[in-house]
Amino acid sequence: MKDLKGKTAAITGAGSGLGRAMALAFAREGMKIAAADVDQKGLDETGSLLGDASLFSMRVDVSRESDLQEFCRRIEKPWLVCNNAGVSPLGAVWENSVGDWQWILNVNLWGVIHGVRAFTPRLIAQGEGHIVNTASVAGLISPPGSGAYNVTKHAVVALSESLHHDLRERHCAVGVSVLCPAYVPTGISASERNRPAGLSRGVVSEATKAKEANLKKAVASGRLTADDVAKAVVAAVKEDRFYILTHPRIKGAIQARMEDILAERAPRDPLRLG
Ligand SMILES: NC(=O)c1ccc[n+]([C@@H]2O[C@H](COP(=O)([O-])OP(=O)(O)OC[C@H]3O[C@@H](n4cnc5c(N)ncnc54)[C@H](O)[C@@H]3O)[C@@H](O)[C@H]2O)c1
Repeated sequence: MKDLKGKTAAITGAGSGLGRAMALAFAREGMKIAAADVDQKGLDETGSLLGDASLFSMRVDVSRESDLQEFCRRIEKPWLVCNNAGVSPLGAVWENSVGDWQWILNVNLWGVIHGVRAFTPRLIAQGEGHIVNTASVAGLISPPGSGAYNVTKHAVVALSESLHHDLRERHCAVGVSVLCPAYVPTGISASERNRPAGLSRGVVSEATKAKEANLKKAVASGRLTADDVAKAVVAAVKEDRFYILTHPRIKGAIQARMEDILAERAPRDPLRLG
């Protein structure tokens, strides 16, 4: 069991939702929190909720390598890194614009790549630490209508598994976990608020509008809270557990995907399995 007291956690996307909940949960374990987000107002709110547990907050755009390198440089001894910031524009894969694809890949995938590249060498040099990458159940199954999101989250799972193998192969005592939650009430269904100017939106079909309404409803009615998920992350870090599957009911859909692959048949729609 790892003891977290007195150690430092660096968390991206800490201005809202799961990132804020993780910041508060790790603070309850006696950790100091370095919080990063593009949203200054959200960061300020998290900072005041953290009180003395706040090491500092920094406006960071995770899609910019230099921002994450600077965030990492400012932390004297990072021990835990949560690469968590994310956005979720929907749409059929051919209707998403290049702007949609660039935005989501830049935040959800490059944000994790930049975080891993900045922090991992520091943790290896220290001889200890832990990295948590936030993926999603959409990193283990591929629901229709969110292809770009699925692509980024499958990539975060693959990156995390590869990181785990690379560290073990080199006998580095740095842990890795990948967080794969289903719907949790947060700001994720309103992520258009963070779209950069210049990366304009593609076709928003009637089908996509219906998916957006469904996503809003599903996120708002998620049974586990952000705090429940954050507690599961704390437990996984302490136990040095890799996969964090907070919603066990989704395992049927993961199993169906694996069975379809092994049987070499067309994938069933994971949202329509009984
Ligand atoms: N809520 C869910 O149902 C759910 C389910 C599975 C996975 N996730 C994942 O959880 C993570 C956290 O999302 P959330 O649900 O807390 O949503 P949220 O919108 O409440 O929080 C996301 C945070 O990321 C920040 N952010 C967005 N773009 C950024 C950028 N370029 N640089 C830095 N920060 C940026 C936002 O300002 C926001 O504070 C995401 O990776 C999301 O994909 C969420």
